[in-house]
Amino acid sequence: MKKIIILFLFYSFTSAQNKTVEEKIDSVLSLMTIDEKVGQLVQYSGGWDTGTQTVRPNEDHEKLISQGKVGSFLNVFGAEATKRLQKIALEQSRLKIPLIFGLDVIHGFRSIFPVPLAESCTWEPDLVERSARLQATESASTGLHWTFNPMVDIARDPRWGRIVEGSGEDPYLGSLMARARVKGYQGNNLADNNSIIACAKHFAGYGAAEGGRDYNTVDISERTFREIYLKPFHAAVEAGVGTLMGSFNEIGGIPQSASHFLLTDVLRKEWGFKGFVVSDWNSIGELIPHGVAKNLEEAAKLGIEAGIDMDMEASAYYNHLADLVNRGKISIDVLNESVRRVLRIKFYLGLFDDPFKYCNADLEKKTILNSEIVNATREVAKRSIVLLKNENQLLPLKKNISKIAVLGPLANSKDDPLGPWAAQGKPEDVITVVEGLKNKLGNKTEIIYEEGCKVDGNSREGFPKAIQAAKESDIVILCVGESRGMSAEARSRAYLDLPGVQEEFVKEIYKTRKPIVVVLMNGRPLTINWISQNVPAILEAWYLGIQSGNAIADVLFGDYNPSGKLTTTFPRYVGQIPIYYNHKMTGRPHDKSNFYTSYYFDLENTPLYPFGFGLSYTSFKYSNLSLSQNKMNINESITVTVNVTNSGKYEGEEVVQLYIRDLVGSVTRPVKELKDFKKVLLKPGETKKVDFIITEEKLKFYDVNMNYVSEPGDFKVFVGTNSEDLLEASFALEK
Ligand code: NOJ
Repeated sequence: MKKIIILFLFYSFTSAQNKTVEEKIDSVLSLMTIDEKVGQLVQYSGGWDTGTQTVRPNEDHEKLISQGKVGSFLNVFGAEATKRLQKIALEQSRLKIPLIFGLDVIHGFRSIFPVPLAESCTWEPDLVERSARLQATESASTGLHWTFNPMVDIARDPRWGRIVEGSGEDPYLGSLMARARVKGYQGNNLADNNSIIACAKHFAGYGAAEGGRDYNTVDISERTFREIYLKPFHAAVEAGVGTLMGSFNEIGGIPQSASHFLLTDVLRKEWGFKGFVVSDWNSIGELIPHGVAKNLEEAAKLGIEAGIDMDMEASAYYNHLADLVNRGKISIDVLNESVRRVLRIKFYLGLFDDPFKYCNADLEKKTILNSEIVNATREVAKRSIVLLKNENQLLPLKKNISKIAVLGPLANSKDDPLGPWAAQGKPEDVITVVEGLKNKLGNKTEIIYEEGCKVDGNSREGFPKAIQAAKESDIVILCVGESRGMSAEARSRAYLDLPGVQEEFVKEIYKTRKPIVVVLMNGRPLTINWISQNVPAILEAWYLGIQSGNAIADVLFGDYNPSGKLTTTFPRYVGQIPIYYNHKMTGRPHDKSNFYTSYYFDLENTPLYPFGFGLSYTSFKYSNLSLSQNKMNINESITVTVNVTNSGKYEGEEVVQLYIRDLVGSVTRPVKELKDFKKVLLKPGETKKVDFIITEEKLKFYDVNMNYVSEPGDFKVFVGTNSEDLLEASFALEK
C-alpha cells in the first residue's frame, strides 16, 4: 500500500505515463531545489559487514538520503540492505527520487568468472557477453543497478597491475570485448530486472601510465590516444553504455577528470554520449595534488564544467556545487545538464516505475551461485586457458596415471583463483587444482599435494618434501605465479619474474627429471624465460574463478582441447617494455647486419610469446591464402580466403587472425594491425575455408590532419595463427 502511495506521489508531478523520458526529467527538474539537484550528483560508499549481513552503520548517510542529498551509493548491496536505503529515499526524502546502487562487479558478484584479461584470451565476444549477462543477473538479484565495468583500458605495459582488468593490448579486440560486456550487462532492455548499467572506465589513457606505475603521468600524442586508447571507449558508447568513469591520470598536463576536451568535446559532442560520467574515487579531490586546483571548490568547478556528472567520494560537489551555482560561478545550466543525465539513467533502469524491483530476497537466494551460472564459470574458464608450450605432446595427460604430485603455492589455494576485484567471491566456492584433479580422477590415481614454498618470501623449508613427492610420482603438476593481490589496482611491479623463491623451486623439481607441467596463475605477463626453455609443458591459467581447478583438470586431461590465445605480449625481460605487436617501423628497423638500427645490443627485440599466440593439442596448417582481387576502390571490398587444416590427432578450435599493414601513409603506420578473426572448430584431417572481408573501414586511420580516412596505396594482408606466424598477400586501394 505504502508503495502505491509513494508512486502516486511521484507521478503527481511526473504525471502521465505516456510522457517521454525527457519530459519526465523536465518535470522532476522543475521541482528540484539546487541542493536536491546537487544531491543527485553525489555518490558515497557504504560498506558491507559480512559478519552481520548489514550495511555498516551509516547514520550520516541515512540522514543525507532523507534530505535528498545523495544520489547513489557504491559498495552497498544485498536485497535487504538496498531495500532499506531505498525506502529512506522513497519515504523520507521530499522528492522521492530513487537511489542507484553500484559496485565493482568486474568478473562476477559471487559466482566468480575468470578475470577479464583471461576472458579476452577466449577471443569469443559472444561468450564474454554471456558471462557479463550472467554476472548481471546475479548482481541485479542482490539489489545492484550498476557495475563499474567494463574496464576497457588498453595496456601495453605488464608492470601495470591493472592490466588484469582489461582485454589486453589491442584496440580492435578490446573494442569487441567492450561491446560484448556492455551488451551483456545491460541486456536488451535496461528496465528488465536482470539488467544493470555498465560503466566503461577509466576514461581515458590510464593504462599508459609512465613506467607502468599506477596513477602515474601519461603523455601520449592525440593520434595514439584516439587510435589505440579511445577506440574501446568509442565502441562501448556505440554499444549504448549508460555510464563512463573518469580516470586518475593526466595527459599532457590535463588531469582527465578536468578534461573538457575529452569529457565534453569528444564524448558528448563527437560521440553523442547521453549517459553520465562518474568520477573515479576522489579523482575530483585529486585535482588539488595534481596541481590544477587550489582547493576543493576549484576542483568541483573544474570537474563539473569538464563533464564529470557524479562525484564519487570526494565530497567536492556536496560541499561546493550549490554555493558555486548560487554565487553565479557555475551556470545553472551546467548543473541541470548533469542532473538530467543522472535522472535519465534512473528512468531507463525503470527505477521510477519500481524502485524496489531489484530488492527481492527470494530471487537473490535463488540466483546466487545457481547451477547455470556456476556451470558457465567453468565453461568460460576452460576456454580462457592458453597453452604456451607442449613439448613432445606431453599433454593431454592420460587418466590412468597412478601417482601425480601436485606442487606449488597455488596448487591448493582457495583464495588466489578468485583474482582481484572478486566482489563477494568466497574461497569456500573455489575448486583448487588439487580438488579439480581429484574430481576428475577419483580414487584411481593417487594425488600427493605439497606446497613447496609460498608465492612470496624466502623460505625453502617446504622444498624437500615437495622434491620427495615429485620423485615418487609419475608426473608433476606445478602451480606457480602471483597471489591474487599482486595484480590489481596499486600493484605495479618493477620485476616480472615469479615472485619469491618459486623459480628456484621449479628448478629443484626439474632436477628430479620427472615430466613437469607448469600451471601459471597470474594477472599479467611474467618473464618466465627459464621455465619456457626447460619445462616441457606450460599452461597459462590466469585467475580462473570459482571453477578454476575443474577447468584446469578439463584441459590437462584433454576433456577440453585448449583454444585460448594471448591478448597481451609476453616480454623476455622487463627492459623490453613497453612491448606490443602493433608497433611502428621506425626509420631504422632492426637489421642484424647493421649496428645502427633499432635493437638492444644485449637482448633480441622479439617477445617470449607474441600477441595472438596459443597452442592446441592438435596442429593447424594454413595454405592457399588468396584475395578476390588485388585492387579495390573505396566502395568495393576484397574477400580474403585461407584454408585451415587440422593436421593433428585431436578435434580443436583455432583462432584464425587477419592483420593489415598500410605500407605508405601521410603518417607512419604500425607494422601490422589486427582487423578481424574467426574461431573455427576442425575435426582431425578436416580443412575449412575461412573468409574475411576487407572494406575501406578497415583501412582508416587518423591522417596527417587528424581526419579519420583511408589513403590510396599499397597494403599487406597477413593471415595466421598468431601475430608473428603469418601468410601474406598484397593489394592496393585506389581512389
Ligand atoms: C577506484 C578504481 O580505480 C575504480 O576502478 C573503481 O571502480 C573505484 N575505485 C570504485 O571502487
